Amino acid sequence: MDQRVSTVLRGRDVISILDLKRGELERLFEEADLMLRALEEGRRLRLLEGYVMATAFFEPSTRTKLSFQAAMLRLGGAYIDLPPEHASSRAKGENLADTIRMLDSYADVIVIRHRLEGAARFAAEVAEHPVINGGDGTRDHPTQAMIDLYTIRRALGRVDGLVVGVLGDLRYGRAARSFILGLTLYRPKMLYLISPPQLSCRREVLEKLEERGVDYEEVASLDKVVSELDVLYVTRIQRERFPDPVEYEKVRGSYRVTGESLKGAKENLVILHPLPRVDELAFDVDATRHAWYFRQARFGVPIRMALLKLVLRG
Ligand code: NCD
Repeated sequence: MDQRVSTVLRGRDVISILDLKRGELERLFEEADLMLRALEEGRRLRLLEGYVMATAFFEPSTRTKLSFQAAMLRLGGAYIDLPPEHASSRAKGENLADTIRMLDSYADVIVIRHRLEGAARFAAEVAEHPVINGGDGTRDHPTQAMIDLYTIRRALGRVDGLVVGVLGDLRYGRAARSFILGLTLYRPKMLYLISPPQLSCRREVLEKLEERGVDYEEVASLDKVVSELDVLYVTRIQRERFPDPVEYEKVRGSYRVTGESLKGAKENLVILHPLPRVDELAFDVDATRHAWYFRQARFGVPIRMALLKLVLRG
């Protein structure tokens, strides 16, 4: 089974979290456990020696780009990075397809982030080598969802049967969207979608929850449900994605998680955040036992190591 699943991931594009089956995700997590152990023990791995990854990030990034690059280096591989617009041929008017074709001819795998929905899928059509989506507009961020689910599994041992709340910008946030879609590969007991009405989850995502039999409820504030939660996933308002700044002003500062707001929470509540945070998650939460978000960000390296290894070598 393991063998079959890992062979199946080899050479594949990863555009949406739903491109993977649950068994493939579990296989990835087992591989990530091995990577994490090697990192903790300071063992040097050479599994991707001689392989080259190209990172093409057309939008800002700290964690996704650097953890992909660190993952490649930690496996003995190398990376090339597309320079920012003003320093690459995009400044001369080069189109996306031609840029991707070039990266495809220099590297064995391409990781792309773009502001336009569908850009990663388009790149995958152009490229012969596997393309991994590092975030496309408001749509998908599959490797973030892998990290999120992996963190829950490490913190609580399972995803099935948990009560999960996702708080924040469920409308424009691709991390929240991908996490919610990722949950449909599991059987959570209950999913609370917590947001101001203007930032509520899109119809198409709700339909997916219904289709896959995930029980969910849309609620407007955290206090009503906080005591039930095993996991709380907090996200920032995606200011840069609002079609109109006036709309942003209407919801700005509309929710904030603080030590105080967690008073009634379960002892083992796990708080996740894809980061960056702005003002929706107070610093006083960092010192509580609920704060898993920095560990979550660290898991970005072993998860991306596991993914690169499975995609490139099986
Ligand atoms: C997220 C993103 O870029 O979508 N960041 C990340 O990759 N961890 C979340 C965000 O920007 O809010």
